[in-house]
Amino acid sequence: MTIKQPIAVLGAGTMGSGIAHVFARAGFQVMLCDVSDAVLVRAVERIAANLGREVARGKLTEAEAAAAVARIRTTTDRESLAEAGFAIEAATERFELKRELLAGLDRVLAPEVILATNTSSISITKLAAQTGRAQRVIGMHFFNPVPVMGLVEVIRGLATSQATFEAVRELAVRLGKTPIEVNDSPGFVSNRVLMPLINEAAFTVMEGVATAEAVDGVFKLGMAHPMGPLTLADFIGIDVCVDILRVLHEGLGDPKYRPCPLLVRMVDAGWLGRKSGRGFYTYSG
Ligand code: 3HC
Repeated sequence: MTIKQPIAVLGAGTMGSGIAHVFARAGFQVMLCDVSDAVLVRAVERIAANLGREVARGKLTEAEAAAAVARIRTTTDRESLAEAGFAIEAATERFELKRELLAGLDRVLAPEVILATNTSSISITKLAAQTGRAQRVIGMHFFNPVPVMGLVEVIRGLATSQATFEAVRELAVRLGKTPIEVNDSPGFVSNRVLMPLINEAAFTVMEGVATAEAVDGVFKLGMAHPMGPLTLADFIGIDVCVDILRVLHEGLGDPKYRPCPLLVRMVDAGWLGRKSGRGFYTYSG
């Protein structure tokens, strides 16, 4: 099955803009959609700046970066996504929001179009059931920063067809990524394993076992992680981590996934990590 253009990306936050970046860099026409012009302007600025990093490192020419930016059209009108040949939803990790967005996309897209979701933990089968095209709904889970990380976790729902799966696997390769197939289960593999690590790291800080710097130092120096788990939590967003832990807790029914109270309090305080200027660490600029 050939993927047709343009590619619709619904959601222009960190993940949506990273996804738009890699599609545009790979030569696809992209329609990037979000609720406000201000969010879209910021997203395109971020994409241009990140493409600029690649130019600075000699990975792209200035002309290629400019052409990639020019391939991205922005819109606040979801109905205009009707012309898309492939769509990916990259909204906040809340089932109700994703349900509404996927049902809306299902209504406007042509019936043969594949609808992917960049959910990081919610059941693909359940999301697919919100549409009338469950055989063409699939999980395509990218990692932050999307232009840099090599993985796309590809997750089939119960009804996802083999043709859809193969088309999306090939698409990931065209984007320069390595697809890895995993089965549909809360958190898939990535977040089922990563989030308990982050959660346990938060417990060690809460219980006074060590400082955040010490916990991160253990993982950077002892296990060669590029970032310690608490720096990574700030990078992902403390609110996103708590949302994913709640999906794991509810979906797997095991108390070992309960979010650490420190993480919950940080969200209540608005300490969401890098994006809010404060998390386990403070950030300026
Ligand atoms: N866009 C484009 N390029 C970028 C970039 C971006 N947003 N951010 C970094 N880069 C590039 C840099 O230009 C540099 O390129 P080079 O290798 O050609 O020199 C390279 O990435 C490394 O960047 P820096 O030298 O600036 O910084 P670091 O060496 O500290 O690396 C990092 C930064 C790549 C973020 C590294 O710290 C890292 O790999 N961290 C772990 C990230 C991770 O685990 N991500 C997964 C999060 S989980 C997730 O997303 C799933 C979700 O569901 C929660």
